[in-house]
Amino acid sequence: MNNKKKYFFTETLLRWDRESNKRTMPWKGEKDPYKIWLSEIILQQTRVEQGLDYYNRFIKQFPSINKLASAPESAVFKLWEGLGYYTRCRNLVATAKYISDELEGNFPSTYADILKLKGVGSYTAAAISSFAYNLPHAVVDGNVMRVLARYFGIETPIDSSSGKNDFNMLAQELLPDGKAAKYNQAIMDFGATVCKPQSPTCATCPLQKKCTAYQQGRQEYYPVKAGKLVKKHRYFYYLIVSQAGKHFIRKRAGKDIWQNLHEFILVERKEPAENPEQEIQGWLKQRSIGANKIKSISKTYRQQLTHQTIHGCFISVELKGPQLIEGYELISKTKMKKLAFPRFITTYFEEEKFF
Ligand code: ADE
Ligand code: SF4
Repeated sequence: MNNKKKYFFTETLLRWDRESNKRTMPWKGEKDPYKIWLSEIILQQTRVEQGLDYYNRFIKQFPSINKLASAPESAVFKLWEGLGYYTRCRNLVATAKYISDELEGNFPSTYADILKLKGVGSYTAAAISSFAYNLPHAVVDGNVMRVLARYFGIETPIDSSSGKNDFNMLAQELLPDGKAAKYNQAIMDFGATVCKPQSPTCATCPLQKKCTAYQQGRQEYYPVKAGKLVKKHRYFYYLIVSQAGKHFIRKRAGKDIWQNLHEFILVERKEPAENPEQEIQGWLKQRSIGANKIKSISKTYRQQLTHQTIHGCFISVELKGPQLIEGYELISKTKMKKLAFPRFITTYFEEEKFF
């Protein structure tokens, strides 16, 4: 590929950053690897606007990695509540403990050692090693691939292994000597504010005169994706059962979504239940749980996850006298307030004024 075009890209991006980049974020220019790591883990699957408040609350409550490492896991989960993708939170806790206990609280300072941390892939390792230590590693995420695909007119699918390789090689070539931190932040800000997924502002873009997508008038065509995954639908019917002011809940385990979060008694279906009430009665009967009556059924709730949509509702049931329900525990509302629940359920709490 044309070297002039590459040189123009890097130089123009750095100039755009110096002269026109208006984006401010609390972690910009930050050099503390702990804070950078935290911000990058939060931003892995969360939009910047949503992540900001979480980042600020985390830094306030856990100003150092040792503070985070010594906190009860449930408190960290509670602070994470609503961010989704809870594997990130589990990795956060495990990594904080590892650095605190095994590395005397010193954050690793080479790309290879950073990459070994749980929950840190090549993108995050490049971000931390460049922002904190100015090490020469180019960040490559969805934003970066979109900008490169458009400007260079690359049609290799970004979700293919050859695509990943091509974009990584190119990104690394474009990285200017000694300016990894500045350049990496600049390309991400550029992707977020100028070369946006929808309606990029090409009219005022400083890269326009050499941009392939612009010349072709095909900005929306890039980046090319190979396979669009078929999304799956799941139907969750939650039974809300109380006894003496306490509710039956459990902590989700296993490999499924919402691992370690709490939930009410779950009846899951592959198809929407035509008659949720009947479905619930059948479920209770199977377990020989004597139910008096169904007190209320909520409206339908919906939560969009990356590869699946959760649909469902909440059904309040009154039991015939005190009973046990296997796999679930009776918990008071005071205790429930301290536990982390998926957004699907916290939305219900808010709308129904549960607490
Ligand atoms: N997304 C992930 N990391 C980011 C950063 N440092 N700046 C802007 N957006 C980001
Ligand atoms: Fe992106 Fe448009 Fe600029 Fe090309 S001209 S880099 S498509 S904003």
